[in-house]
Amino acid sequence: MKSSPTPPLDRIDIDTNRTLLNRYRFVEHESLRILAGWLPKAAVLELKCEMSRALWEDAQHVNALYLRLREIQSPAFQKPADAALVKMMAELVHAPDEFGLLLALNNAITPSLIRALESHETATFPNSDMPSVHAIKHILLDQREQRTRLAALLQQAEKAGKITAAARQWEGYIAALLAAAGGVNGLEPRPEKPIAIPACRTEFKLPHEASRDERFTNCGADFQTMPNEDDYENHTVEEFERYSTEILAAETVAIVLYSLPGMPWEFQLDSTRHLYDEVRHGLMGYEWMRRHNMNPFDSPQYLQVFKWRCQFPPVMQYCMLTMGNEVNAFPYRHRRVEAHQKSGDQLSEQFVRYDIADETQHVRFGKRWLPELIKHIGDERPLEKYIEDSLEVWETQYRSGKLPINVE
Ligand SMILES: [Fe+2]
Ligand SMILES: [Fe+2]
Repeated sequence: MKSSPTPPLDRIDIDTNRTLLNRYRFVEHESLRILAGWLPKAAVLELKCEMSRALWEDAQHVNALYLRLREIQSPAFQKPADAALVKMMAELVHAPDEFGLLLALNNAITPSLIRALESHETATFPNSDMPSVHAIKHILLDQREQRTRLAALLQQAEKAGKITAAARQWEGYIAALLAAAGGVNGLEPRPEKPIAIPACRTEFKLPHEASRDERFTNCGADFQTMPNEDDYENHTVEEFERYSTEILAAETVAIVLYSLPGMPWEFQLDSTRHLYDEVRHGLMGYEWMRRHNMNPFDSPQYLQVFKWRCQFPPVMQYCMLTMGNEVNAFPYRHRRVEAHQKSGDQLSEQFVRYDIADETQHVRFGKRWLPELIKHIGDERPLEKYIEDSLEVWETQYRSGKLPINVE
């Protein structure tokens, strides 16, 4: 048989493939970390919830790309060689406000990522590179939906007069930096005109306070004494009002996640889930109140809890949350399941049982990661001593309900 000449390569070759997959991974990875850093600052509840969901979904994408990248390069995660792309993502965090950040993300970065994934999906070898195609198809599904959901929220913000000229200017700046990087895949023509840094650029500082929108009127309330558990009706109302405040825990995990970029990827992945779970627990409280004809925005928000935790180093915050708040909640939660079963309140029972499932994971995360975290920050104390010292602060200041703010 006569051999025919080698056909020209019309597909993405494997070296280009890993460079591209690493670029998508980098953009999603940096985006999720920036969303975490900004989470406490975002005041509008729906926006905060969407940011949490988006960053958790982004983490699923980073993980899918991680699993593929580790098969074709080592280490799996690499800083892209393209300085323009690295600069664009490094600048993104310095937005003037959350709307500027989200406009830049939704109108510049996400559409470019979607375009890149769409072309990658068909340009790679369909059989040889099927694992990448599979990941890309699923990422596209999420990213398209994320874009639609966020666009609707940004439109509402526009109508409410919350989008300033500065936010628009920021969107334009990030779009220009992205164009200079040739888009997310780096393959688009790169304009060579200089890019001026806009006056609205605001050096990012990690928030020490959590924002809530104007619908919340009771933000810094004193902890109320809960009605006795025997008083089933009244206690249950308070129980679900308290769930609505768990967004504070999400905001603490967000600070921890943002502050420790050098921790292993699996820690970051677990933390995005932890964070989003707490938002969902908050939403569970809202749903319960709405179903019981209560206005969830009347519920006290206890923002001093977040402010109090922020006085301490991130690892200590994580330790107090997982080994203090979360470990100790189980006997109470199990009593509540029993009480709801006894009274035939199926909704409350289901909500608490799902919560217990999530919280069991959070304690596992704490137990898995605290030894690594303590090593990571170079604390010399043995694990048990570190936990003991952290819990002493938690017992004397938090559990006593005093919540002092020692350092502003
Ligand atoms: Fe929770
Ligand atoms: Fe939790």
